[in-house]
Amino acid sequence: MHVSKIIEVQDYTWKYINTSVPALAEINLTIEEGSFVGVIGPNGAGKTTLAFSIDGLVPGQYNGVKKGSVKVFGKEVEDYDKGELQQLVGVVFSDPEAQFTAMTVEDELVFGMENIGLSLAEIKERLEWVTELTELSNLLMKPPYEISGGQKQRVALAAVLAMRPKILILDEPTSMLDPVSRGRIFKVLAKLKEEENNTIIVIEHSLENLVPLADQMILMSESKLVLHDKTQPFFQQSKMLLEKGAFPPGAMLFFHLLHERGLYQGEYPLTVAGGAELLRDLMGK
Ligand SMILES: Nc1ncnc2c1ncn2[C@@H]1O[C@H](COP(=O)(O)OP(=O)(O)OP(=O)(O)O)[C@@H](O)[C@H]1O
Ligand SMILES: [Mg+2]
Repeated sequence: MHVSKIIEVQDYTWKYINTSVPALAEINLTIEEGSFVGVIGPNGAGKTTLAFSIDGLVPGQYNGVKKGSVKVFGKEVEDYDKGELQQLVGVVFSDPEAQFTAMTVEDELVFGMENIGLSLAEIKERLEWVTELTELSNLLMKPPYEISGGQKQRVALAAVLAMRPKILILDEPTSMLDPVSRGRIFKVLAKLKEEENNTIIVIEHSLENLVPLADQMILMSESKLVLHDKTQPFFQQSKMLLEKGAFPPGAMLFFHLLHERGLYQGEYPLTVAGGAELLRDLMGK
């Protein structure tokens, strides 16, 4: 199968107006279609600005100075017609509240689809698909402001998915959620990864759910992209991650600390279950 470069960022620098330091500096990044990419890095590193740059909010909605190039599907983001790029790239933020306008969850989902001129049959089909995927059928008739934070976030995700974007970006989608609701959001992402060919980019501080799904990881720090690698080799560089203010998941950190003390050589486990197994092996020796 031909793998296409769905996102290509070259020598890209972005400085918001009236700031002295660029939010993103000399970024080079290629993402292939169908990838599942995790993005981590400390506050202010430029993660959200990178998301904005891919969906055209930067430079569309913000003033600043751009150097270099950001292409989505081979086309520079500014060269897309208004609204065209937003259909290709769907973004979910951590605070869904601001996005809601309708009186019921169902209307919220249908509204966006009507807006892009889909037929009734298509709207019905997508509504069924997305409702099942995000487990919202019991909530369709409720007002969006009467549901819980976790449910709101599933509605926000469903509304974006109903647009069937080729690229889905989630910017800290679970930072306001409890572990159960967080798990449900990641369950949807896991199904998407399995069943669809979306390119998915997830910016997340909480890594326990992200790491098992991500094929590759990006570390941002101080406006720069400092590391981009497949998930395992990425976390093998835990020393650098810690130096840059990013925290590997607990199981990895544990094995990294063993490594630092000369007690363990080899690959760090990606999950707690993997770590437990490794530990059993080590203790057995
Ligand atoms: N609208 C704006 N105008 C001016 N500067 C901005 C604007 N938005 C972000 N910045 C600056 O750009 C830099 C990168 O911010 P960004 O929000 O992209 O970081 P982040 O990695 O998403 O951080 P966080 O983890 O806190 O969400 C920061 O120095 C921030 O102050
Ligand atoms: Mg951010």
